[in-house]
Amino acid sequence: MTSSYGPQGGDAGLRGRAAIVTGATRGIGHAVARQLAAAGARVCVTARDADEVRHTAAELGGVGAAGSVADPEHLASVVELTLREFGRIDVIVNNAATNLPYGPLMDVDPMAWREAFTVNVEAPLRLVQCAWRAWLREHGGSVVNVCTEGAAHVGPNVGAYGTSKAALLHLTRQLAGELAPRVRVNSVSPGLVRTEMARFVWERGEEELAAGLPLGRIGEPEDVARAVLWLASDAAEWVTGADLLVDGGTRVRAAGAPGAYAVHERLRAHGPARGRGAG
Ligand SMILES: NC(=O)c1ccc[n+]([C@@H]2O[C@H](COP(=O)([O-])OP(=O)(O)OC[C@H]3O[C@@H](n4cnc5c(N)ncnc54)[C@H](OP(=O)(O)O)[C@@H]3O)[C@@H](O)[C@H]2O)c1
Repeated sequence: MTSSYGPQGGDAGLRGRAAIVTGATRGIGHAVARQLAAAGARVCVTARDADEVRHTAAELGGVGAAGSVADPEHLASVVELTLREFGRIDVIVNNAATNLPYGPLMDVDPMAWREAFTVNVEAPLRLVQCAWRAWLREHGGSVVNVCTEGAAHVGPNVGAYGTSKAALLHLTRQLAGELAPRVRVNSVSPGLVRTEMARFVWERGEEELAAGLPLGRIGEPEDVARAVLWLASDAAEWVTGADLLVDGGTRVRAAGAPGAYAVHERLRAHGPARGRGAG
C-alpha cells in the first residue's frame, strides 16, 4: 500500500491531496492539473513562462513555480514550495518534456541530445529524489511519468525523443521496484494528442490521421489526463510499474484498415530545420 492515507470515496482519495504537475500551463499537463483540482487536490504547477504559471495557478486555486525542469534548483524549489503551502506531497506528475532535437541521429548535436535527456529523464528522477527525501520516503505517495506510445518503436526524425522516452519508461519501472511499497510509480503513454507540441503532425490532414486509428480520432489532452488521475489515485492502489497506453488503438492498427502509418508520413515529411518535434 502506498500511504498513510486511505480511500476517501467517489473522488478516489484525491481530495485534500497535494500534487505537483510539471509543464502544466497547456496541453496534457494543464488537463491533468485541472482534473486533479476538480477532484479536490491542491496543485502546484510549473512551466518556464512565468505569466502562464501565474495564470494557471490562479485559475486552479493552486500555487506555481516558473522555471525549467532542467534546472535542479528549480526542482528543489518546487518541492519546498509545495510543502510550505500544502504541508504534504502526495502526487508527482512528470509531464514537461522536449521533443527536440529533431532529425536523423547522425546529424544530431550531442549537446542537444544531452538536453533531451536532462529534461525528459534526469529531471523526473531529480524531482522524485527531492520529494522522496523531503516527504515521500516517510509518508508515501504516487508518481506518474508521461512517456509516449512512440517509445515502443522507431520513427523518422524522432530518435532523440524516442530514446529518451524509452529511458523514462525504464526509469519508471526501476523506481517502481525501488520505492515500493510506500510510493507507486507508473507511466502513461499517449498516442497523438491535440497539443502545441504535436501541432505540426495533426494540424493538416487530421481526417486522414483519424481514419487510420482504430478509435477513429486523435487524442484530446483530457483523454490522457483521466488515465493519469486514475494511476495517481487510490483506485490504482495495487498498480505500480505499469505503463498505461492511451493511444486510440495506435498500436493495434495493423489488424484493421490497410495503409501507411500517417503519423510517420508526417514525421518524415517534416524537415529537421522546421522541427518542433513529435508527440
Ligand atoms: N501531444 C502529443 O501528441 C504527445 C504524445 C505522446 C506524449 N506526449 C507527452 O506529453 C507531455 C506533454 O506534452 P504536450 O503535448 O501537452 O506539450 P505542450 O502542449 O507543448 O505543453 C508542454 C508544457 O510543458 C512546459 N514545458 C516545456 N518544456 C519545459 C521545461 N523544460 N521545463 C518546464 N516546463 C516545460 C510548457 O510550458 P513552457 O513552454 O512555458 O515551459 C507547457 O506547459 C510530454 O511529456 C510529451 O512528451 C505528447
